[in-house]
Amino acid sequence: MAAPAVCHADEAVVLRARVVSHDQVAEATWRIRLDCPSIAARAVPGQFAMLRLPDRCDPLLARPFAVYDAFSDGIEPRYADFIYLVHGRFTRALADVRPGDEILAWGPLGNGFAAPSAEHLVLVAGGIGQTALLALARERLGLARYGQPSREFPRAGHVTFCWGARSAGMFACTDDFRKAGCDVHLATLDGSAGVKGTVVDLLEQRFAADVDAAATRIACCGPEPMMAAVAAWAASRGIACEVSLETPMACGIGICFTCVARIRDADGGWDYRRTCVEGPVFDAARVVW
Ligand SMILES: Cc1cc2nc3c(=O)[nH]c(=O)nc-3n(C[C@H](O)[C@H](O)[C@H](O)COP(=O)(O)OP(=O)(O)OC[C@H]3O[C@@H](n4cnc5c(N)ncnc54)[C@H](O)[C@@H]3O)c2cc1C
Ligand code: FES
Repeated sequence: MAAPAVCHADEAVVLRARVVSHDQVAEATWRIRLDCPSIAARAVPGQFAMLRLPDRCDPLLARPFAVYDAFSDGIEPRYADFIYLVHGRFTRALADVRPGDEILAWGPLGNGFAAPSAEHLVLVAGGIGQTALLALARERLGLARYGQPSREFPRAGHVTFCWGARSAGMFACTDDFRKAGCDVHLATLDGSAGVKGTVVDLLEQRFAADVDAAATRIACCGPEPMMAAVAAWAASRGIACEVSLETPMACGIGICFTCVARIRDADGGWDYRRTCVEGPVFDAARVVW
């Protein structure tokens, strides 16, 4: 029998968050800082918030965005940063928002990364997927604690960050990962930065011979075909891998079933799971790609 679904929406709050800053950080990519203490204080790495522009109906539905990082005002966690790629109705409208404006936000939502600590944590991002991974790097390198009460993990010995994008102009805030202490490696399809090829080509180059599967864990986020390829690469080497799925969402709180993904049960069958409340992070071996 399938395990009962766990719902991660119960702790979410809804608020109007003031925009503190909003800057372009790469090609078609913006970073926005929101004043949202109850989200910033509770979010753990891999969780997300639904964002919506208040007082307008187009687009009607909120969109999910990973909490990139949370900051304090010197006393309590208060600000949450989001990084987004402009490509559709909501993100085009969001790019026009100015500091001082308000955004409707609800969160934190989803399960976040729960991966037990590993000696070597390998973060793998495709496209805008890095947004789910910075806080995880900072947490596992002992630079920050997240959640309320804050989570505690033994430190990872080493965090490698492998990031693939179409071209060099798409990489945003790469220095955040370097400053956190990650060993950063890039791949681009056009060869304009790092290895020419996909992020799996990069993994193949970096870890061709010397990967200690038992001491390594992968946390991955990006477009679905890229995550499927990373999951297959990890499985073929016996490396545990978690993926954060980016399925489209409408409500974010488990009501509409827009966001379902096929997830394997312990008995070998599969069932539809709502990524907003039972994910977005899943064991890659359980995802039916
Ligand atoms: C948990 C989670 C966290 C996310 N975090 C971020 C983030 O930090 N930064 C960021 O930029 N984006 C993130 N996304 C993706 C973002 O929510 C979507 O791209 C969103 O649809 C953008 O809204 P839009 O109105 O601009 O584009 P839309 O008008 O919604 O979409 C534009 C086009 O993309 C297609 N599309 C939309 N979403 C997806 C999808 N997930 N997979 C495949 N095709 C899709 C649509 O069909 C349409 O053709 C996240 C998604 C999830 C589920
Ligand atoms: S987005 Fe509505 S159930 Fe997941």
